[in-house]
Parts: sequence; C-alpha cells; structure tokens
Amino acid sequence: MMGFPAVAGGLAVTHFAEIGSTNAEALARAGSGGPEQWIVADRQIAGRGRRGRQWVSEPGNLFSSLLLYDPAPPALTPQICFVAALAVHDAVRDAVPVLDPVRLKLKWPNDVLLDGKKLVGILVEGAIAGSKQAVVTGIGINCAHHPENMAYPVTDLANEGFRVAPAALFERLAVRMLDRLAQWKRGSAFAATRQAWLKRAYELGREIEVKLPERTLGGCFEEIDGEGALVLTLANGHREFIRAGDVFPASQR
Ligand code: BTN
Repeated sequence: MMGFPAVAGGLAVTHFAEIGSTNAEALARAGSGGPEQWIVADRQIAGRGRRGRQWVSEPGNLFSSLLLYDPAPPALTPQICFVAALAVHDAVRDAVPVLDPVRLKLKWPNDVLLDGKKLVGILVEGAIAGSKQAVVTGIGINCAHHPENMAYPVTDLANEGFRVAPAALFERLAVRMLDRLAQWKRGSAFAATRQAWLKRAYELGREIEVKLPERTLGGCFEEIDGEGALVLTLANGHREFIRAGDVFPASQR
C-alpha cells in the first residue's frame, strides 16, 4: 500500500496511524511555534466537524490538515474554504480520471459533493500564534467509508465504484492546494477563486433553502459575492447576503 510522503508541495508532512484530530494537532503545533506543514492520519478518534459536530474517522478515508500562517489578511482568511474546496475538486479529478467531473460539485461554503451526496468535509480553524494568525484547513475525504443515518445524503469513492488510496489522493491534494493558494493570492485576491468556484457550484441559479441558526430562508441561489457570502434572492425580490448556514436543494424539503 502506498505510504504518505514526508514532504508534499514543499511542506513537511507528519503522518499518524491514529490521532485525536489532525486539526487539533496542527493547532497545537501552531501554539508551540511549529512551521507551516501538513498533518495526516489513518484514523481520528476525536475527528471534528463543523458546528461542533463529530467527524466519524475510520481507516480507509483521508484525514489531513494544513497549517499556514497569515495566508491572507485576517478579514479574508475565511475564503480559504473555497480555495480548499477547489483543490479537493482538482485532486479527486487527478486521482480518479475516469470520474466525470460534472458529477463533482462544490456546495457553499465548503463541501464537495458527488452526485449530490457529501464526499468531503472541510473545517477551517484559526488561532493567534504570537504576532501571526495560524490558519488550519482540515480536509476529510471519504475514500472507503461514509457514515450512515445522516440528515443529508453521504457517499464515499469506493461506494461509487472508485478505489483510491488516501495517500495517493493526498499527494494530489497537496500539489493542488498549493496551486489554488497561489491563484488566490495572485491578482485581485478572491476574483479568480470566486470565478472558478462558481463554475463548479452546486445548485447555482436554483431554488434552495438555507438553514440559519434561528430560521430557514428559501430563494434562488444567485451567486457568491466578492467576499464569499451566498447571495439569495427571495420571492419578494429582496437579496439576502448569507455568511454562514447550511444549504439544501428546495427539492429535498
Ligand atoms: C464538516 O463537518 O463537514 C467538516 C469536517 C472536517 C473533517 C476534517 S478530517 C481532517 C480534519 N481534522 C478534523 O478533526 N476535522 C477535519
């Protein structure tokens, strides 16, 4: 079986057979002044999902976290979730060339779906490290397993007929992440990333529902704005700019 490289995309890679959470490990390393690096693991026993949820992390899937310092001015760092989603899209295409790329969509703000089913989760966490901002981008890709009984459809690559070793997928991810980070930093910051993301967006131009902490909004998913907010046009024509929420297609109501 292919192992993880010691260096990927110019950054050191530390591999653990088992760990609590690669994100927690990367944040701990930032706390002790560690350099920019990747942390990968075969298994997580305290995998973290968005909004405090657990991320079930059995061997066979990819669990990776990238630690960076000041990748962008602090107000712009949340955009890194779009950068990561694009890198994952690229990496899955590289590692699974027989997969028709139109089946892979980016769901706002940071999931990657295969035929509308969640394949990837991305969790960005930050911490102050001395005079810098440490940004950890955690990426979990379902290669061989997916959890059952979720509130939304979920899948894994093997389930769809594609066998990919986590280490092989990681090797592509590290390269693609570097390319997408460079694209983000080039030129007018978010413009190229935004455009690339919109081309692969899930339910763009369609009726969706966005679940917010206190209410659910329904409307047409127009675009994302220059900062990454989801632009939703309501039935009364009013445009809502949403910065955090869970998107569902209106057909899944
Ligand atoms: C989500 O809820 O969709 C985000 C899931 C993020 C999971 C990844 S797996 C690698 C990294 N380490 C963690 O503990 N979480 C992220």
